[in-house]
Amino acid sequence: MTRPIRKAVFPVAGMGSRFLPATKANPKEMLPIVDKPLIQYAAEEAVAAGATELIFITGRNKRSIEDHFDKAYELETELEKRGKEKLLALVQDVLPDNVACIYIRQAEPLGLGHAVLCAKPVVGNDPFAVILADDLIDGGDLNCLQQMAWVHEAHGGASVLAVEPVNPLETDRYGIVKTEPVADRVGRVERIVEKPKPANAPSNLGVVGRYLLSPRIFTLLEQTERGAGGEIQLTDAIAMLLAEEPVMAYQFRGKRYDCGDKLGYLVATVEHALAHPELKESFAEYLGRYVGTRLPR
Ligand code: G1P
Repeated sequence: MTRPIRKAVFPVAGMGSRFLPATKANPKEMLPIVDKPLIQYAAEEAVAAGATELIFITGRNKRSIEDHFDKAYELETELEKRGKEKLLALVQDVLPDNVACIYIRQAEPLGLGHAVLCAKPVVGNDPFAVILADDLIDGGDLNCLQQMAWVHEAHGGASVLAVEPVNPLETDRYGIVKTEPVADRVGRVERIVEKPKPANAPSNLGVVGRYLLSPRIFTLLEQTERGAGGEIQLTDAIAMLLAEEPVMAYQFRGKRYDCGDKLGYLVATVEHALAHPELKESFAEYLGRYVGTRLPR
């Protein structure tokens, strides 16, 4: 039996520069997809996969994330007074009671690897998940992290990276892996490179923002020098890890929305609005009319 994943790390200290000025005073992880911030989709995914400790690696301007997962006394009292029970439940049920939120401040923006290393004192010697909230993934019945937990279990507790085929011209936006196939959708990682130019990419399988990692990664991160972009890269530590332990790449079932990018964010918004119980009919009707008036017949 492998140990269940109880701890999930959310690096949220990034600048969100692609969404400025919206992210000037507000983290990009608080951008909503219809009516829920990205960070809540990510937290719900982790909780559904069994996480009970959510560890947020925060930076400047990230207080709204703490406030979001905290009790909102004034708002709750006001909603209660006005008899708005449905809204009150929405505000109170942001996370189940058995889930603890832990906040660690990353003092300097030294990269994703450094952010993950900041979680070491809390994660200790357990395998753990890392979720990048700007990759929003709809996995259907089993969410992406749940699927990865299966792979982790089936392969003797190996680390697991979620991957998907990416546009071969855009390999320099991702960690790219070369794998040896071992099972349906699963390959053992032989090489991993951070953001290679298309000509140097070992494949077009890109790592998306979900990782299940062995705690050994912390020791390796401590030894990781600054890499691509002058930052301490998680990818470089994973490259060292795979020389010591098996690391699996898993092509998840589901759809990823790259919400770190304006177009991906808009696509996610439109598709989630078209699936939203309160909005889907009126929005589909509007969209149909709008597109009908704009497209040549
Ligand atoms: C990070 C990782 C990269 C990974 C990507 C997934 O890059 O460094 O390996 O493929 O997330 O979203 P970032 O998007 O933070 O530049």
